[in-house]
Amino acid sequence: MKKIVVTGGAGFIGSAFIRHQLKTYPEIHVVNFDKLTYAGNLDNVKECDLGRYTFVQGDIADRGAIQSAMEGCDAIVNFAADTHVDRSIMGATDFISTNCTGVYNICEAARELKTQRVLLVSTDEVYGSIREGSFKETDPPQPRNPYSASKAGGELIALAHFETFGTPIVITRGSNTYGPYQYPEKVMPLFITNLIDGEQVPLYQGGEHNVRDWLWVYDHASGIDTALRKGELGQIYNVAGGNERENIVLTHKLLSGCGRDESFIRLVKDRPGHDFRYSIDASKLRGLGWTPTMDWDQGVSETVDWYKNNEWWWRKIKSGEFLEYYRKQYEER
Ligand code: NAD
Ligand code: DAU
Repeated sequence: MKKIVVTGGAGFIGSAFIRHQLKTYPEIHVVNFDKLTYAGNLDNVKECDLGRYTFVQGDIADRGAIQSAMEGCDAIVNFAADTHVDRSIMGATDFISTNCTGVYNICEAARELKTQRVLLVSTDEVYGSIREGSFKETDPPQPRNPYSASKAGGELIALAHFETFGTPIVITRGSNTYGPYQYPEKVMPLFITNLIDGEQVPLYQGGEHNVRDWLWVYDHASGIDTALRKGELGQIYNVAGGNERENIVLTHKLLSGCGRDESFIRLVKDRPGHDFRYSIDASKLRGLGWTPTMDWDQGVSETVDWYKNNEWWWRKIKSGEFLEYYRKQYEER
């Protein structure tokens, strides 16, 4: 692959994927197509100006814009999405536009341009919650919140495109991802940056024992890369971190990493419809040679250190649009 379009590359995982591609493949050219919503941030791709990287501002819900960015590319990898569950509960119009209509536009443009591969980055949340055991790719989607429903909708549109038109779709479903450059609305960076500032962390009451499976961001990037290059068309691949932890265990780990005690926990009203546990089986992707490399303790400690050492990155964010969201989410509920 010589030229790939990455949509949503100024967000958390998309920007890590671009860094991974430029480092791993010396010949590759990456076009980063991003709308720059509140979650998109050009600071995330500062290191990427290598002559093999181009940025285009645009919306995947705009068919003409995404099609012209895709002209001449070998593959497209779609990260562009509205991604935060709590925001989708406040209102999901943008989620449907980007996560469903946007995906449809990418499929249509790929059909027209005969793009060789379309990799859709999706999520383990489409399966819904599971008390015991782990979901396999053959299990049916049963999303339980507006965000995951919109992601499942995008997947179904793309898979139908594959069946009907032969559009070369491959889908990945990743688990909860963590690491540098994650927007501080998500639990890890929110809690770490609050603790650095000596503020309490808003742990959802009733969700203390809910479980998430944590995946290091560069392991997620390499999993997507494996599916992109070796995955079979029309297939889905789970990308699991293999680090299932209860929220209370994660919280204690972050408290200790930031030198704070239990008095820094503030129990707040739970997320409506809060999914209890996500768990996926990644043996299908492992069968293609992928394996996650990051140890959980080391990954969390590197993440805490990164936020401690990169206040320039998150202070700007936390003093902007974020403040109004935070007030609505945690104080007006
Ligand atoms: P993010 O919220 O950090 O970034 C999303 C990016 O998409 C932003 O740069 C934003 O500007 C861009 N974007 C949004 N709407 C757009 C549009 N209409 N057109 C073009 N660009 C648009 O997201 P993330 O956490 O990096 O997630 C990336 C992808 O990975 C998403 O598809 C998400 O569903 C999936 N995913 C995330 C996780 C996780 O834990 N964060 C886990 C599994 C899968
Ligand atoms: O599983 C993959 C998904 O992981 C991705 O598809 C989503 O884009 C991503 O946002 C993430 O969804 P979650 O809802 O699991 O992540 P979040 O960081 O919002 O919450 C993680 C857990 O922490 C969840 O059980 C809710 C809890 N939580 C979260 C926040 C923001 C709290 O207790 N307090 C909080 O303030």
